[in-house]
Amino acid sequence: MSLREKVIIVTGGSSGIGEACSRHLAQLGARVVIASNQRESGEALAADLRAGGRNVQFVYTDVAQEESVQALMRRTVELHGRIDGVHCNAGVWAQGKVTDFNEAVWNKVMNVNVKSVFWTAKHVLPVMERQGKGVIVITTSVAAFVGFPAHALYCASKAALESLIRSLAVDHAGWLRVAGVCPGTIDTPMLAATCAGWDKPVQELYADVARRIPVRRLGQPIDIAHAVAFLLGDEAGYINGTSIVLDGGTLALPPW
Ligand SMILES: NC(=O)c1ccc[n+]([C@@H]2O[C@H](COP(=O)([O-])OP(=O)(O)OC[C@H]3O[C@@H](n4cnc5c(N)ncnc54)[C@H](O)[C@@H]3O)[C@@H](O)[C@H]2O)c1
Repeated sequence: MSLREKVIIVTGGSSGIGEACSRHLAQLGARVVIASNQRESGEALAADLRAGGRNVQFVYTDVAQEESVQALMRRTVELHGRIDGVHCNAGVWAQGKVTDFNEAVWNKVMNVNVKSVFWTAKHVLPVMERQGKGVIVITTSVAAFVGFPAHALYCASKAALESLIRSLAVDHAGWLRVAGVCPGTIDTPMLAATCAGWDKPVQELYADVARRIPVRRLGQPIDIAHAVAFLLGDEAGYINGTSIVLDGGTLALPPW
């Protein structure tokens, strides 16, 4: 496999989609650095994967803080001498229309979902340029393309990432590849959190949603991990400045 021995950072790599990516990339032989703000579960996941013979480290990181992201890149280079790929996956969700938000919530969502990717790119690009090669994969969302009711801030943050994918690919052409994974409805702790306050148990809500998705099931984190591994590898060498949609056909549905 082309990912063997590659050094790959997964932000938000200790839960949901990121956890599946950390596990899958490690199984493919990559040297994985899990970067998240969940110290306990991140360290436990890294230890579990190391016990299975994989090369995995956890580095506590707050992706919204530039110094923390810079320290993550420094630590990864100390550990492995290079950085072949970064999966910018950490994210948070907030519900509401524009009239519902205050500046604190706006800052939180934009800082974690968008500013984090600026800092990550800013501090990993010099390393990748020195190597002459690198790949950044960014988790966006179908929310970038449709106006989910009462999700204005989350939708805007994910649309910003779709745009950033194009800018990065153009500005650092020749040695950087940038691609997005654009998930639909994926069975993770974040999805469970979105169900709080509904009048039905989570499993019933999931079944209702699954019936409407053309593949008739929710996505699983491993569905995204397979695409992330592909995009990070040399087999995806001609995919740049764009995203792969993994939504079971949701965006293909007619709007009525
Ligand atoms: N679950 C879905 O249906 C879905 C759909 C589309 C896109 N996404 C996106 O996928 C990504 C992963 O989401 P998930 O569903 O696995 O959710 P999750 O809540 O299980 O995981 C989110 C991860 O981000 C990390 N994180 C949050 N704030 C951070 C910070 N400040 N610094 C470092 N790490 C931080 C958390 O520690 C966690 O590991 C997110 O970007 C989310 O927006 C999810």
